[in-house]
Amino acid sequence: PKKIIIDCDPGIDDALALTLAHGSPALDILGITTVGGNVDLGHTTGNALRLREFLGFPGIPITAGSAGALLRTPVNAAGVHGEHGLGEARLPEATLPPAEGHAADFIIDTLRAAPGEVTLVAIGPLTNVALALLKEPRIVEWAREFAILGGSYTRGNHSPAAEFNIAADPEAAAIVFDAGWTVTMIGLDVSRQALAVGEVVDRMRTMGRLGADLLVPCVEFYGMVTATEGPAIHDACAIAYLIDPSLVTVDPAVVQVETAGRFTSGMTVTDFVLGDRAPNALVGTSLDVPRFWDLVLEVYEDVARRIGG
Ligand code: BDR
Ligand code: CA
Repeated sequence: PKKIIIDCDPGIDDALALTLAHGSPALDILGITTVGGNVDLGHTTGNALRLREFLGFPGIPITAGSAGALLRTPVNAAGVHGEHGLGEARLPEATLPPAEGHAADFIIDTLRAAPGEVTLVAIGPLTNVALALLKEPRIVEWAREFAILGGSYTRGNHSPAAEFNIAADPEAAAIVFDAGWTVTMIGLDVSRQALAVGEVVDRMRTMGRLGADLLVPCVEFYGMVTATEGPAIHDACAIAYLIDPSLVTVDPAVVQVETAGRFTSGMTVTDFVLGDRAPNALVGTSLDVPRFWDLVLEVYEDVARRIGG
């Protein structure tokens, strides 16, 4: 399996993405790192810990990172994810603490220990990844692959021009895109196709405790506040891509993050016309929606069987 580190801000769709990553035999999670984003760092870390308890992966370290953006005042998405970040999910209290140390150091140390072997994926604001890059630029060479859920080349969701994870810390995102590696950018253009429509939720309802305590209350809460056709399960798209890259079409591009714009701060300005420039990103442009849901729901069914109830 592919070894990965997941940097996240759970967050409803983060929790659904972590469940997918944990359940997939194609991935081996070496660690989870948390960042303030959808809700504050205390809650994103607490949610990761409770999810670990619920799903039963006590051996995977969870390391907290940055509470806020590099320069900007924190924003959050509690209006979308609920005050505590996981809607109405019912997860047990965590019995195990987070790991010692800072997320950025966990990322650096884990990549350094196995150059060329470990994939890094970020599904929250990019603050921890930027801090890791500032402290140890060689992670660019050590990472096998780096992917994010974030950005967009068509529209925003936090503002007309900017997607939430980029808008939450545009300076961090600019550091990450300018670091000299290739960023696989799975953005809203892809993730807004991953809608948990009625049939998807109906199948989740058959999944015992996993469905009743996590998936259904999360998706229903998310649905109330986001879309009419069903909410977009953004973060799961980046994980699904790592499990099976053929699910997402990606095109090379030069992506630059707007940090100065009055109306466009956090925009991922994406140029598919490369000329003689080298691309710094592979940008997701479409999702094979039926195969995406087949994959996700099959993995969830497996996890549901394992945790029972
Ligand atoms: C992203 O923003 C967050 O609210 C979600 O968890 C996801 O990572 C989508 O724009
Ligand atoms: Ca997220």
